[in-house]
Amino acid sequence: MCKDCEKKTFYITTPIYYPSDKLHIGHSYCSTAADTMARFKKLTGYDVFFLTGTDEHGQKIERKAQAAGVTPQEYVDRIVAGIKDLWKLMDVDYDDFIRTTDERHVKGVQHWFRQLYEQGDIYKSEYEGWYCTPCESFWTELQLKDGCCPDCGRPVEKTREESYFFRLSKYQDWLIQYIREHPDFIQPPSRTAEMLNNFLLPGLQDLCVSRTSLKWGIPVDFDPKHTVYVWVDALTNYINALGAGTENDALYRKYWPADIHLVGKEIVRFHTIIWPIMLHALGLPLPKQVFGHGWLVIDGGKMSKSKGNVVDPVKLCERYTSDAVRYFLMREVPFGSDGEFTNEALIKRINSDLANDLGNLVSRSVAMIEKYFDGVVPAPAEQQDLDRALIAQLEALPALVERHMNALQFSVALSEIWKVIGECNRYIDQTTPWILARNEADRPRLGTVLYNLLEASRIVAVLVGPFMPRTPARIFEQTGVTDEALMTWDSVQRFGAAVPGSRVHKGEALFPRIDVQKELELLEKQKQEAAKAAQPEEKPAKRFEQKPEIAFEDFEKLQLVVARVLKCEKVPKADRLLKSTLDVGGEERVVVSGIAGHYKPEEMVGKQVVLLANLAPRKIRGVESRGMLLCAADDEAGVLRLLSVDGDADAGCEIG
Ligand code: ME8
Ligand code: MG
Repeated sequence: MCKDCEKKTFYITTPIYYPSDKLHIGHSYCSTAADTMARFKKLTGYDVFFLTGTDEHGQKIERKAQAAGVTPQEYVDRIVAGIKDLWKLMDVDYDDFIRTTDERHVKGVQHWFRQLYEQGDIYKSEYEGWYCTPCESFWTELQLKDGCCPDCGRPVEKTREESYFFRLSKYQDWLIQYIREHPDFIQPPSRTAEMLNNFLLPGLQDLCVSRTSLKWGIPVDFDPKHTVYVWVDALTNYINALGAGTENDALYRKYWPADIHLVGKEIVRFHTIIWPIMLHALGLPLPKQVFGHGWLVIDGGKMSKSKGNVVDPVKLCERYTSDAVRYFLMREVPFGSDGEFTNEALIKRINSDLANDLGNLVSRSVAMIEKYFDGVVPAPAEQQDLDRALIAQLEALPALVERHMNALQFSVALSEIWKVIGECNRYIDQTTPWILARNEADRPRLGTVLYNLLEASRIVAVLVGPFMPRTPARIFEQTGVTDEALMTWDSVQRFGAAVPGSRVHKGEALFPRIDVQKELELLEKQKQEAAKAAQPEEKPAKRFEQKPEIAFEDFEKLQLVVARVLKCEKVPKADRLLKSTLDVGGEERVVVSGIAGHYKPEEMVGKQVVLLANLAPRKIRGVESRGMLLCAADDEAGVLRLLSVDGDADAGCEIG
């Protein structure tokens, strides 16, 4: 509750975005949803704070800046400007934009890190790695070249790097219980089960939260050779933006805990494990909810720049208006699920929902008032059953919309609004105003029907505002609504606020119809050009030929295990062969593979691979090979890539 204005507060956040050269429509998805929610809460009387920003530290940025020949700070400044332009274009109207390079954020991160350290939740320990004494530098296993220092080529010693660790393990049981007692904390519910089963119940390990090898980041203030781990840095943005922990913490006291952290499903883990444990350890309240939304995918896969399958939100907004794009994003896919983005779906939605349903309701109502009443809104006479049924639906609509919005079911809220828009259009067909207009005696009835339609348009305009911020003003302009009191949430609770005697103004179509065929051809051409630009070579799609079926017992005979490459060398006088020594979980064994044309021996060391372990041993060029490394192989294309496991699995782990 806000003490000054007596309003309930609502604090919503998006993730802070990595500054990438170009944000795609997937990024706009989260911001559009957060903005829509923020607008809805404002409309319904809340004192809202909506935070977004950028996550600017880390190795990736450091390297990109280097490649571009600028400092990391110059590099991010340029990109952040572009991100802000995009939010402006899409009417993402945040209250604050925090950058992790902001002084206020840097100070905050250092403050929290120090507090956790002083109370013993962060401790200094050692992180295993390799050390080149002559160069005095640390290397990870993967960075070594032929097992030696990649800089000077001299032998390295196994050593440990000093690192800070955060005691996640200490809070594991507390968090499990908290999540079980607060079923709304992680939404949608399926993500709760995922977090518990995949991460919490198997057990948490203390988290390494500092690095000495990375410079582009926030230094630990009491030990500045250490840089704070980027996620620990990033997560605290949500409270640093509010001035938590400073003298200037009025916003923190007013808005924290956050009502909703809106995040993509792949980062729910950080927000529901690391973040709540940090807050709890710091003695701060937890956000009320973390909502993990799904991904917008293209051709079945997540958008990625290297695949050339990104959709540029700027182009879409310029072509179709930001309101249409926002509508599509919120309408097409149930919030929480993944959804496919296609141009065809977008154009169809624009034509059917916006040009037809909404556009027609407004344009027909306004046109008929112009034609039959010289543009002056008639007063309603007695309402009939048909009218009352429509009025009842319109009056029930705001509460229905609010219920779905509070559950972040944007698409459901919109479909309820569109059901009523459909009813209004049917009402026109049922009441046939053009026939009523033929008879002077039917004028009161005609006036009632047209008044009802105009009032329905006004109510709909108010309700679609959070989704399509520019559309209400255009509808009010045409329907002659000028009084701001008629644009509020309060004013749509009761049917009948529109004022007879005001003037309508027929205007341009709200959303012009699109020629689907022509448009698709054009977009397809653009897409191909973009894909070509990203992928110089054309590759025909790979086809596989099915072999004869096998029984499950046949499959069970194969023993596949995770292995780690300990050593690797060329087999003398054999161009294609590498001899790898593997850790197969307590056992070492040697395998010869025909992969020398694709991997260097030094690249192999440290790799996690998949071994067919029970293949009969075979002598190859004098070396006994016990098993086979699995690879994806495409002879024609000259591709050969080793299989690995997604994430961490210990050597010796069986696959099946
Ligand atoms: O993860 N569909 O930043 P980010 C839907 N900096 N959402 C998508 C998407 C897609 N195709 N692609 C990206 C980070 N997103 C961190 C966050 S928060 C303390 C730190 C969403 O730029 C993604 O799911 O990689 C995430 O919620 C947001 O864009 C930012 O992603
Ligand atoms: Mg990401």
